[in-house]
Amino acid sequence: MRLLVVGGGGREHALCWALRREDPHADIYAAPGNPGTGTLATNLDIPADDLDRMTDAVDAYGIDLTIIGPEAPLAAGLADRLRGEGRVVFGPGAAAAQIEASKAFAKGVMERAGVATAASASFTDLAKALAYVDAHAEPLVVKASGLAAGKGAMVCTTRRDGAQAVRAMLGERRFGSAGQVVVIEDFLEGEELSVFAVTNGREVRILPSAQDHKRLLEGDRGPNTGGMGAYAPVSIATHDLLQMVERNVLLPTLAQLEDEGAPFSGLLYAGLMIGPDGAPSVIEFNCRFGDPETQAVLPLIESGLIDLLDAAARGSALPAVRVRRGAAVTTVLAAAGYPDAPERGAAISIPEDLPTGVTVFHAGTALTDGTLRVSGGRVLTVTGVAETISEAQAASRAGAESIEFAGKTWRRDIGWREAART
Ligand code: AMP
Ligand code: GLY
Repeated sequence: MRLLVVGGGGREHALCWALRREDPHADIYAAPGNPGTGTLATNLDIPADDLDRMTDAVDAYGIDLTIIGPEAPLAAGLADRLRGEGRVVFGPGAAAAQIEASKAFAKGVMERAGVATAASASFTDLAKALAYVDAHAEPLVVKASGLAAGKGAMVCTTRRDGAQAVRAMLGERRFGSAGQVVVIEDFLEGEELSVFAVTNGREVRILPSAQDHKRLLEGDRGPNTGGMGAYAPVSIATHDLLQMVERNVLLPTLAQLEDEGAPFSGLLYAGLMIGPDGAPSVIEFNCRFGDPETQAVLPLIESGLIDLLDAAARGSALPAVRVRRGAAVTTVLAAAGYPDAPERGAAISIPEDLPTGVTVFHAGTALTDGTLRVSGGRVLTVTGVAETISEAQAASRAGAESIEFAGKTWRRDIGWREAART
């Protein structure tokens, strides 16, 4: 089988790793990939958002299944382009990818589908947005509607902070075009949960649920980032809760998208808040695998991943995957200055002998003259898999500790909520 993974981050390295583990004989390509995917697959030097060259490559290499990792090429219509040429693609078309690319659109879909989410309003006009903030209860949440690499949401304790966030987006255009539309919403109490649903548009298969750690600092303090670590599975994601999520969130959203002429296939990621009453509300949808959650979720899937992705891409009935017992914890190693101004260039040293159960996925690395160097904000993700959450934490931490580069920034407490529960 010839497989292409589009993208070049930690999620894509984890995808290549999982595909390779499942099918040692597959021809796997990554575009553009990174030095990590290069050890498992053939890297093609094509930017993820170069639709013309990507389409040509799928043709030239006779790719049987293309798996699109990042949101930008999905929102730009890469899946539509490839499907238009008769190719099998895992990932939604541009219309359905709006569920992530426009928070204002996602809010509308949820409202029309009757899916629980924080009450909100969308604005393009600064004065109207400020007036809405002025009348809003505290705390409140201000979000850039467009794609902002996970950094476009601001939880504001006071109306004053809320007004400042609105001015930064609509006045100073600090988020560029992503912040031209601003969504202002109620603050939701509870615990967050990332649910990964593979779907052919009608039916879903829920993979092990995960929890991200969005804040930069230990104890969930500091600014929001793209994610500083994740673990899976999450014990609050009981069978009953996931059934409720399937019935009340995933299926109505898919049906609504279909009705609106934007059928979704691929991975529908529901970022949920599980309220004190145990009921889920949607914080956001993503149209793709989460990063870094994927680096914790995929190592728990023992078999069946390729068949599942292929079936979803073809619109066929979805087979089940086999999930292993135990837990996975992924620690992100970020560059100095992340998330605002990551410093690039530091040399990285990864020991040959990693602790047992540890796998390192490359995210923002580059090979220059034979030296592995920091080339992005999130540099490496270190996954530990073990029988228990505390063993998985210890493995991930030991792996993270053993890797060296100047300015290495990381949290030692990934998975703390789960560890405290068990
Ligand atoms: P988002 O970019 O929409 O996923 O938001 C990033 C993070 O901000 C989420 O993972 C939450 O931690 C927080 N957040 C976003 N919206 C809300 C909300 N309505 N209530 C509470 N926290 C939120
Ligand atoms: N970890 C959150 C995301 O992938 O958007």
